[in-house]
Amino acid sequence: MTKDIIEIDNLVKKFGNFVAVDNISMRIKEGEIFGILGPNGAGKTTTINMLLGLIKATSGFIEVDGTDINKKPEIIKEKMGLMTQETVVDGDLTARQNLEIFAELYGMKGTEKEKAINRALEDAKLEEFGDEKAGSFSGGMQRRLNLVKSMIHSPKILVLDEPTTGLDVQNRVDMWDRIRRMNKNGITIILTTQYLEEADSLCNRIAVIDHGQIKALGTPAELKKTVSEGSVIDISLRFEDAENAARIIKQKLKLDCKVIADRISINAGREDIKTLTAVVSLLEKEKIKIIAASVHLPTLDDVFIKLTGGTIRDALGEQQSNASKVMWRR
Ligand SMILES: Nc1ncnc2c1ncn2[C@@H]1O[C@H](COP(=O)(O)OP(=O)(O)OP(=O)(O)O)[C@@H](O)[C@H]1O
Ligand SMILES: [Mg+2]
Repeated sequence: MTKDIIEIDNLVKKFGNFVAVDNISMRIKEGEIFGILGPNGAGKTTTINMLLGLIKATSGFIEVDGTDINKKPEIIKEKMGLMTQETVVDGDLTARQNLEIFAELYGMKGTEKEKAINRALEDAKLEEFGDEKAGSFSGGMQRRLNLVKSMIHSPKILVLDEPTTGLDVQNRVDMWDRIRRMNKNGITIILTTQYLEEADSLCNRIAVIDHGQIKALGTPAELKKTVSEGSVIDISLRFEDAENAARIIKQKLKLDCKVIADRISINAGREDIKTLTAVVSLLEKEKIKIIAASVHLPTLDDVFIKLTGGTIRDALGEQQSNASKVMWRR
């Protein structure tokens, strides 16, 4: 059996009276890609910052490779690399100089340092740009430089805080490939994300967090199974009809049904077509106009809807700092 490389027990972080991380416990296995999925302000960065010893936990325990980080903080530097949410490259320095600072921070010198920097530039496909100022690089190039910088000391565990937020599709796919390749080479990856598809496609297991708490933890398949053993039916209606339609469906057909703005989502189990037919005829009989209907296997979107009771916080007008995070709005 693979061992747990990270153990987090009853982790709490309070900022004054505000509880940003509320009693989180989880185990991360050696060799896996573990995702921490949650919307803005869920507590992802705060959790990661405690794991990396950047901020002190209010209470709780963290062990890295069997060592308590409070008792031996050096274990963090030794075993882990971090790519922060904000790209931290110094634009006035060249790519090579940026890497040098980091290599020296990890105590590298002479040929070892040179080798590590050349390897990093090659990994980032920046060999030809090593002596150019990082400030002149595109967003994708800066992110790649940031990634290889966090890998300069060849850590066993790599923590990536929202590695693809703000990247265009091409650079996002490139980042996914890089993450998969590093993982194939034996590196345990912990990443935070707001993107449901990213967590689904990359991660072996996912912890869904919201308001500082773990709402669910499992493989993408396990999480989806909690929504339905079979299919999910989505029916789009006029906004003003949705609540009423859900009430009637629950009452007359005894189905598990949730309202998400102008859409209702129904757990159809294994009887998808039969259920769809019954729902459509019921709504027609009740003279409720159906705008569109679809049957699909559960997605992580459905998981989140189930966990948050059918309403996604951002949909209710909570602050949305970045339009590209729109997936949480659906
Ligand atoms: N230093 C701090 N002082 C006070 N409150 C803080 C501090 N750092 C974080 N918070 C609050 O804790 C909560 C969790 O923040 P955190 O940055 O961990 O969220 P996140 O899940 O990383 O969100 P995002 O996707 O926006 O990066 C938020 O409500 C945030 O405002
Ligand atoms: Mg964050």
